[in-house]
Amino acid sequence: MQGGKVAKAARSARDTAGSCFRTAVVPAAGLGTRFLPATKTVPKELLPVVDTPGIELVATEAADSGAQRLVIVTSPGKDGVVAHFVEDLVLEGTLAERGKFHLLEKVRKAQALLDVASVVQEEPLGLGHAVAQVESVLDDDEDAIAVLLPDDLVLPCGVLDVMSRVRRKRGGSVLCAIDVPKDEVSAYGVFDVAPVPDAVNPNVLRVNGMVEKPALADAPSTFAAAGRYLLDRAIFDALRRIEPGAGGELQLTDAIALLIAEGHPVHVVVHRGSRHDLGNPGGYLRAAVDFALEREEYGPALREWLHHRLGPDWDPQLTATD
Ligand code: UTP
Repeated sequence: MQGGKVAKAARSARDTAGSCFRTAVVPAAGLGTRFLPATKTVPKELLPVVDTPGIELVATEAADSGAQRLVIVTSPGKDGVVAHFVEDLVLEGTLAERGKFHLLEKVRKAQALLDVASVVQEEPLGLGHAVAQVESVLDDDEDAIAVLLPDDLVLPCGVLDVMSRVRRKRGGSVLCAIDVPKDEVSAYGVFDVAPVPDAVNPNVLRVNGMVEKPALADAPSTFAAAGRYLLDRAIFDALRRIEPGAGGELQLTDAIALLIAEGHPVHVVVHRGSRHDLGNPGGYLRAAVDFALEREEYGPALREWLHHRLGPDWDPQLTATD
């Protein structure tokens, strides 16, 4: 598409200066079991947040942070995820003929964002295994990749820009964390961190290790992993050297732990905004409502309906402690 090419060129001219990665990886080969039966035929990554699939929101974030290429890790039969980023001439022709130009613009957005490639993970053998599939499509001079989990909406966007700055200054790999309430730590991978003595930004911390789903008493901090990673190319070598864990799965966090143990610098940026977990129906619904409330065409009516639905006696304090 002419418009798409112009948009991509404009982004690359702006971005090559700022970001320290060209390729953003979106692993989308998981089974999505928490969303069954919907995910029997519809990939979780295509479920819409209002009207836009989660993966398009994440691809937009990647493009805005300087990525030029999106590599989607898919599984056999999940072709629809990549098709979302491919021009559909029949649909576009029909919309143009009917004068539906606002819809045409919406449909063309995804394909104009960045160049899209895919690799196939034949079996869902874990996030680490999914990331490992990407090495073969990287250019020789790419020394880092960004990984964005399409389940995670980290808002407002922009944390990857901060992560890029941290890598440029301190090298190595940079991860993203959110500060969660103490009673929720057991649901997350939690970072063991130390302050960086010369850091100007107090949200940049050195990572000494990570504990998966710790009991509250064993949690080294309240900083939980959010789905954004800026990984040095050394991650691929580490992924080759770790052992698969439960269910034969290769864990990305084990490879990161190996890099830390070998002295590779790993830092975390604590993101002070909000986050939505699209990977489970409860989190997904919250995201959909949150996004819809912000939309001019749906927000006011939804707000009014929620008000009626919850009733005048609804008390958030009571509900939270019930
Ligand atoms: P999740 O564990 O959240 O996704 O993995 P899942 O496995 O699809 O979901 P459930 O737990 O069965 O409901 C985080 C991300 O990593 C990808 C998933 O697609 C998701 O985007 N992933 C996970 C892979 O690409 N391959 C895997 O083997 C596992």
